[in-house]
Amino acid sequence: MRIAIASDHGGFELKEAMKNHYKNQGINLTDLGTHSTESCDYPLIAEKLTSALLKKEFDLGILICGTGIGISIAANRVKGIRAALLYNRDAARLAREHNNANVAVFGGRTQTPEQAVEYFDTFLGASFEGGRHQRRIDELDNLAEEKC
Ligand code: RB5
Repeated sequence: MRIAIASDHGGFELKEAMKNHYKNQGINLTDLGTHSTESCDYPLIAEKLTSALLKKEFDLGILICGTGIGISIAANRVKGIRAALLYNRDAARLAREHNNANVAVFGGRTQTPEQAVEYFDTFLGASFEGGRHQRRIDELDNLAEEKC
């Protein structure tokens, strides 16, 4: 599985911690930036990762900002992106089972590396259930088309 990770300055430290954790597990997270704690704009970070995802350069993405909120809002404006802020284990599992989320989001200033890794492991271990959930996902894409 090809996984990309990106953050703004508020998520930089958590991004580095997650990369190190998964590297030790033999899983490479491709880092699309930012590469320091210098201030930068989360919409541009979200745009970079989501466009790579839509071009099928990656299977899944991880986005991190200070709270996880701004970068979620940005990513979810892109049609075909379903970004979920994983705030506990149930949310992490259901984000995959029901929402077929393709981007996992964390808050670098609101979550610990231990929480982020626990929730991302749960997310990876779950599978989309399809059925009525596929219909709802199709409705999401139609909504985006009608309103744009
Ligand atoms: C940056 O200071 C902060 O606003 C950003 O990381 C994020 O939390 C926005 O939602």
